[in-house]
Amino acid sequence: MWAQDWSNVKDLFLPCKNKPSLDIAPALREQNYTAERMFRVSEEFFTSMGLSPMPEKFWNLSIIEKPKDRTIVCHASAWDFCDSKDFRIKQCTDMTMEDFVTVHHEMGHVEYYIQYKDLHIAFRDGANPGFHEAVGDVISLSVVTPKHMVKIGLLSDSAGKKDSEVDLNYLMSQALSKVAFLPFGYLIDVWRWNVFRGKISSSHYNCEWWKLRSEVQGVQPPNIRSEEDFDPGAKYHIAANVPYMSYFVSYIIQFQFHRALCTAAGEYDPKNPLAKPLHDCDIYRNKKAGDLLKEMLRLGSSKPWPDVMAVITEGNRRMDVSALREYFQPLENWLRKDNKKHGAAVGWKLSKNRSYSVSCMSLLFFFCLQFTDVLDWSVELC
Ligand code: ASP
Ligand code: SER
Ligand code: ZN
Repeated sequence: MWAQDWSNVKDLFLPCKNKPSLDIAPALREQNYTAERMFRVSEEFFTSMGLSPMPEKFWNLSIIEKPKDRTIVCHASAWDFCDSKDFRIKQCTDMTMEDFVTVHHEMGHVEYYIQYKDLHIAFRDGANPGFHEAVGDVISLSVVTPKHMVKIGLLSDSAGKKDSEVDLNYLMSQALSKVAFLPFGYLIDVWRWNVFRGKISSSHYNCEWWKLRSEVQGVQPPNIRSEEDFDPGAKYHIAANVPYMSYFVSYIIQFQFHRALCTAAGEYDPKNPLAKPLHDCDIYRNKKAGDLLKEMLRLGSSKPWPDVMAVITEGNRRMDVSALREYFQPLENWLRKDNKKHGAAVGWKLSKNRSYSVSCMSLLFFFCLQFTDVLDWSVELC
């Protein structure tokens, strides 16, 4: 619906269609996974690195299944009750890969709460809001590797064998989640901040929304929209007033954190990425990576975020996409070749012959190539 995560249509884009897909949903079903088991498996990843387990109160008071007797807001969230003891998650967990990743995402928030619980209340927060969104996702970057899925019995041994074609498929699936998200993660608050600034008036809410969706994401609505509709309001974070730029920030810095922890763990060799590529790194059971992450989390918001970032990134104090580019390097190389082979043009065209070739931000350029020439712009822009 939002085109924020394209991995559910990955079958359309897999570079090597003859190679098996790495879906864990069948294994979750066969092994009768429950919500509790997903949460226990997630917790075990954190503790395997020397991080804290979830306290007893967490297990007693969290809601991890959809209640049958009443309606609740099912959007997953994590809560710090600010008494240094009570931390909870609320999630209507489904037995899917997507929710397995969300479990880690939410538990990352709670791990952060636990690590900074003894700081003064004023400092019990993320170094910046993007840090908070990134913790669980950093863990997930290891969890979803085929290598790790084999370790925890959700994929068969054969899926863990080194195979550059399976790797490309895996990277495409990751790119459809992580790279395709970036324009969406960016535009939500561009729209919202322009509303707050008075640059978007209430008579233009929906058309300005679709203008951004067209220009930044390159998607169009499936039927004609008007100001009778209020499409952004259907996004949870807009209706619930949850800031969104933190996710955009998170999707970039999580790769910087992943690179830093993987390097410390000896799971990534920046000098020899072919032998030890970043996308294949799994920091499971690695105490060195755990200590480093802990050191960063324990600072809460007691220092400016660049200082906190520098704790794990060997002095790098800036948010940048170099780690993201390193992670996807093999896919970028393949896309460059494949696009050349098919003579694909970069970007997409807007209606009224407005060409929009600069729409691919440099960090996205390789990705946009895949979706070119398929859009027929029928939406009336403002
Ligand atoms: N709290 C998560 C997101 O909004 C929940 C989800 O991914 O469903 O950040
Ligand atoms: N959890 C956020 C969302 O659902 C970002 O992935 O939009
Ligand atoms: Zn979150």
